[in-house]
Amino acid sequence: MLVGPLPMLKAVKKLAEEKNIPCQISLEERMACGLGVCLGCAVKKARSTNENPEYFHVCKGGPVFQAKDVDI
Ligand code: FES
Repeated sequence: MLVGPLPMLKAVKKLAEEKNIPCQISLEERMACGLGVCLGCAVKKARSTNENPEYFHVCKGGPVFQAKDVDI
């Protein structure tokens, strides 16, 4: 599991995907409500499209996610 600055998370996520290594990341997002209401902590899902965007709420679903599931 990774914890750290976003550029490092992106780099390790990319490396893990290239080497087919399971990887979990802990995301740090600003949280206003902590209840899944304000969308301030939303992080795009990896498989969502621009036409149909989907998001995780870090406050409800995280902060730890499978790296392959999030678009960071
Ligand atoms: S902090 Fe408001 S939705 Fe997550």
